[in-house]
Amino acid sequence: MSAFRRVGSEGEPLRVIQVGAGSMGQAWIRNDAANPDVELVGIVDLDLDAARAGAAVYGDDSIAVHTDLAALIAQVHPDAILDITVPVAHHPVTTDSLLAGLPVLGEKPAAQTVAEALSLAAAAEVTGELFMVSQSRRYNDQLVAFKQAASRLGDLGTVSTEFAKAPHFGGFREEMDNVLLLDMAIHPFDSVRYLLDRDPVSVYCDSYNPSWSWFRGDAAASVIFEFEGGIRYTYNGSWCAPGLETSWNGAWRISGAAGSALWNGDDEPSFETPDADPAPLAAQPSVGAEIAGSLAAFVRALRSGETPDGEVHGNVMSLAMVEAAIESKDQGRRIAIDDVLERAYETAVRSERRDDVRARLESWTSVRGALQGVPVTA
Ligand SMILES: NC(=O)c1ccc[n+]([C@@H]2O[C@H](COP(=O)([O-])OP(=O)(O)OC[C@H]3O[C@@H](n4cnc5c(N)ncnc54)[C@H](O)[C@@H]3O)[C@@H](O)[C@H]2O)c1
Repeated sequence: MSAFRRVGSEGEPLRVIQVGAGSMGQAWIRNDAANPDVELVGIVDLDLDAARAGAAVYGDDSIAVHTDLAALIAQVHPDAILDITVPVAHHPVTTDSLLAGLPVLGEKPAAQTVAEALSLAAAAEVTGELFMVSQSRRYNDQLVAFKQAASRLGDLGTVSTEFAKAPHFGGFREEMDNVLLLDMAIHPFDSVRYLLDRDPVSVYCDSYNPSWSWFRGDAAASVIFEFEGGIRYTYNGSWCAPGLETSWNGAWRISGAAGSALWNGDDEPSFETPDADPAPLAAQPSVGAEIAGSLAAFVRALRSGETPDGEVHGNVMSLAMVEAAIESKDQGRRIAIDDVLERAYETAVRSERRDDVRARLESWTSVRGALQGVPVTA
């Protein structure tokens, strides 16, 4: 990742426009209101009533609302954009914002496809603006402690997540394809990359829809990833699993040469190293909780210039894990992550409409290298 433009300083609230005021958008508006380092100066939604309802949630009916982002940018001159729209809108909203010279904090996923996410990474490079994906489940002090526990286990062999829930959401989720993999599994896939500080190499996936499912697309999946260094990560998830449900984070186990660690996703993790000193984990500074943590990290990154977790280049691989898993279950075979990246890259170059963004993509000499922040431009 090339350096991005720094914005704002201590004691100066970041003036933001939020795009998208649906159900998650309302949670974000409450999040904006709770953060003194942020001032919401405008709300954009294709549905103007939703934007107005958002202003009421913020407690200020005089906030500017609009259906058109460019018009509202020209009106209120914000410092940054929060993109809380549906995934299909992430690419156009984020591209327009970056090209208007504004940094973006966007809800997960980075975009609908890895190809679109690569286009956004290149747009961030072209404009020199930060695009950070809010991968909210990374902001959890228990996850940080779990990572610390993992560091006591010697060489790591396997990591697993069991996820069992039975939510009735209604709306787009009950109609979409591959609902569990696309809408939910990206969270643990992203978390395991954080836990291991490694990237995936290949995946084998089987996904299916239980006979009693109330979702149209597959609501259950079993996935095995191979990570760098040969570590295996297995994910077993279902959104049609009533009774004895796990937490929303799922139930985790890490197994290493010297011991094992457990986290139920709701309480402090535990670990056991039978032949070693069981010294307790040291307290770590809090990373904040969920979207409050990601909003605070965005403001901090803009002020300091330090690359945050969720910066688009670092985040694309989590979306690639989802896309590779879907490709694997469609083709019934193991899929190499690099093949997914290469195909996405070719699509991104072929379908890019902006000459400057396409030229930037074409200058990358390795997709994995570009995502890992090593200098790869020709
Ligand atoms: N981090 C989490 O735990 C979590 C939880 C739920 C949803 N999400 C994510 O949040 C995002 C929004 O989900 P949601 O449940 O609020 O969806 P939603 O359908 O309830 O709301 C989306 C809103 O965006 C508006 N919109 C769509 N396209 C737009 C555009 N081009 N310009 C302006 N407004 C537009 C819609 O009119 C709607 O009001 C999704 O990316 C979803 O994956 C994350």
